[in-house]
Amino acid sequence: MQTLKVAGLQRQRLLRSGNAGRLITLDGKDCLNFSSNDYLGLNTHPDLPEIARRAACQYGNGSSGSALVSGYSEPLQALEQAIATLTGRTAAVVFSSGYLANLALAQVFCQRGQTVLEDRFNHASLIDSARLAGCRLKRYRHADAADLAHKLERDESRHVGLVCSDAVFSMDGDTAPLAELAACCGKAGVLLAVDDAHGIGVFGPEENNLGQGSVVAAGLDETQVPLLCGTLGKAYASAGAFVAGPQPLIDLLVQTARTYLFNTALPPALAATALAAIRLSQEESQHRQRLFANIAHFRQLARAAGLLVRAVNGPIQPLMVGGETQATAAERALRQQGFFVRAMRYPTVAKGQARLRITLTASHSRNDLQRLVEALSKVLIETTENPTAHD
Ligand SMILES: Cc1ncc(COP(=O)(O)O)c(C=O)c1O
Repeated sequence: MQTLKVAGLQRQRLLRSGNAGRLITLDGKDCLNFSSNDYLGLNTHPDLPEIARRAACQYGNGSSGSALVSGYSEPLQALEQAIATLTGRTAAVVFSSGYLANLALAQVFCQRGQTVLEDRFNHASLIDSARLAGCRLKRYRHADAADLAHKLERDESRHVGLVCSDAVFSMDGDTAPLAELAACCGKAGVLLAVDDAHGIGVFGPEENNLGQGSVVAAGLDETQVPLLCGTLGKAYASAGAFVAGPQPLIDLLVQTARTYLFNTALPPALAATALAAIRLSQEESQHRQRLFANIAHFRQLARAAGLLVRAVNGPIQPLMVGGETQATAAERALRQQGFFVRAMRYPTVAKGQARLRITLTASHSRNDLQRLVEALSKVLIETTENPTAHD
């Protein structure tokens, strides 16, 4: 503990009272919330609590067992069908969390001793998937399909059981070159899994504005990306996660994934909430439009203020700080001024790569963004030597 403290790596839980929407109250302090994955602002949508209440009354508060025992409720089945339709896949299975869904991938689709090839910046759950399944974990350079192709050739693809990538990288906000990754895996005959936790509900083909996710936006079907994962606790303001793909792969997960078999199924109220959120996000496309208008406005304001935000057109906008203690100091100073922005530090990101992870949502106003940029400019100059240096 002392070592963590000295290195600026000790973490603190902040006690939240009330809702986590545009505003958040943490340890008694009211803040504008810029640290939430509630990208569409559905966490405070007035319709959802009543839908959850009705499902709990009809199906019970809990799910009562794992899906293969007694926990596979009608709302869960309806949710799986809706996800398959949304993502253009044949079938889907819902896990209790994205961490558990991702853990299942290597255990089910890669043999012990085989290699899982992963993007260096993949989420911890994908890394742990390979490690805990007893597979060899190898990483290719971030968002670099040429390096993946090279490693697939060098390692001989028959030794590689699975390739995994985030679609939208959770700490950097940038996106994977999905079409190139799919082409490499197709050529090598290796299964590709893409985790679109931060893209589902947010991105999608422009012509329909349904938020079908990054993989559909890239025009990739289930022959090209056979395993498509996504969480339901971010844009869809509920909990749980899915894997969608061809029926035989989904059946194999249902039959053999240990994190599915030996885990209590997602409660019906949460399944019903996620299903309603998917529908709402399609019927009320203004949420997504507002989110993207906010992203564009924030980036414009930040650049005008000299904050070097990354060239990413998504809700995750990291500002690099570098040192762990400086990042924590910046977070603290922002909170004192009424802005909640989390500092991300090792081991979530590499040492010396600490950053403020700003997340934008549909519920922010233009004035919120203006105030944030003013506060960031001031705080970063006060707390860091090199406030804005990043690509
Ligand atoms: C890319 C990514 N995948 C998976 C997860 C895990 O999802 P869950 O929180 O549902 O366990 C997260 C974060 O929560 C994530 O950012």
